[in-house]
Amino acid sequence: MKDAQTHTQAQTGAAGPAPLPYSAAELKRRRRDLLKALGDDAVLLLPAAPEVIRNRDVHHPYRQSSDLTWLTAFPEPEAVAVLAPKRKGGAFVLFCRPHDPEREIWDGYRYGVEGAVEHFGADEAFPIGELDERMPEILSNRRRVVYPLGLDDNVDRRVIGWLRAVRGLARKGISAPTELVSSDQYLHERRLIKSRSELKLMRRAAAISASAHRRLMQTAEPGCAEQRLEASFLSACAEQGARFQAYPPIVGSGAQACVLHYVENVGVLADGDLVLVDAGCELDGYASDITRTFPANGRFTDVQRRLYDLVLAAQLAAIEKVRPGNHWNQPHKAALKVLTQGLVDLGLIKPEGADLKQLIKDERYKPFFMHKTGHWLGMDVHDVGQYKQDGRWRRFEPGMVLTVEPGLYIAPDAEAPAEYRGIGIRIEDDVLVTEGDPEVLSAGVPKDPEAIEALMASARSG
Ligand code: GLY
Ligand code: MN
Ligand code: MN
Repeated sequence: MKDAQTHTQAQTGAAGPAPLPYSAAELKRRRRDLLKALGDDAVLLLPAAPEVIRNRDVHHPYRQSSDLTWLTAFPEPEAVAVLAPKRKGGAFVLFCRPHDPEREIWDGYRYGVEGAVEHFGADEAFPIGELDERMPEILSNRRRVVYPLGLDDNVDRRVIGWLRAVRGLARKGISAPTELVSSDQYLHERRLIKSRSELKLMRRAAAISASAHRRLMQTAEPGCAEQRLEASFLSACAEQGARFQAYPPIVGSGAQACVLHYVENVGVLADGDLVLVDAGCELDGYASDITRTFPANGRFTDVQRRLYDLVLAAQLAAIEKVRPGNHWNQPHKAALKVLTQGLVDLGLIKPEGADLKQLIKDERYKPFFMHKTGHWLGMDVHDVGQYKQDGRWRRFEPGMVLTVEPGLYIAPDAEAPAEYRGIGIRIEDDVLVTEGDPEVLSAGVPKDPEAIEALMASARSG
């Protein structure tokens, strides 16, 4: 407690603002670009994500809306960011919680309206309690209200209420907005192309998850609880600075690996089983999403290897297609080709005279591979950005990040040779589109079967 400021903070119980992991200049550029795109007759509103409070009492860790973070970095709940081009007093307005020494003793530091201006570059900031009073004026004589239309009923109702209030000013010669427009088209296409600083965070998030996967693999052995592996993953991420996960980890051993969203993680690894782990941390608001499948006892059986090698070949073929100019569906098509041919070769699909093209058209792979080969990745694990434009699959551009995650799931009751039943395999990496070869952000965790066996053996011998 060296200086007066620290002393004051100690008295209020507030720790003070944590350093923000984003560049203020970059955020300012984003807002400037967006202001231009909006045009002078529009106003953009972005509300903070609602808090998660269980039983009206327990506050769960707060996660800000990705859109609001991307545009402002403002981390607190009960806030609304406004971009109003050419507004007198400034285009960027933040409504937020004012300072409250009593609340800050309980819940910690808040930026307050002063902090919104000082730390976040708002031209003006007002207490969130003044939102209903001030919004009609901000919306006066604008034609379009741009906001996350239809995302949250409460927000929709508030916006309609403000519109009504502006309409009530008609006799004063004030016109009310006539259009409600989704903010998605403005923000999400921009979020899809990652900047250098965003890629730095995503590389780090993927590297942390990759090292957590490696440690988890080294911990695994028959008799080990799935939950212990989950705990190993969570602690490895947290120890490296990533306290939150991008989604709940999936740790499925044996036939549980055939359940795509198995998050109970209540099983115990049996000798001879495969283990599928789909887990990825979130770092400073950016997601990673990695799946590896490995043998509980450290050695793949011949049967497991046949299926594993097929999924790996499909994944490598799909990654090869992640190049500028190729379209979104090309990796999926490449994976389908390899998987479908492999399923025929292994006797899991009986072609009955149909050629490969026809088998794919008839979706004969579907009983064993029922999801797409990937999704955009960014601030959200299933990130924003369109997959089609004007009815056509969109083309890859440098700066886009996606997952490539083919799998094979032979359910215990599948129509398949008995030796394959109850095996689930997925291999998932995070891939950046570059000017040249695809960059696999999650390459730090092995997927080559011999490399997995060597990693697991090294843990046993050490
Ligand atoms: N972990 C979610 C997904 O792979 O899409
Ligand atoms: Mn994924
Ligand atoms: Mn995943």
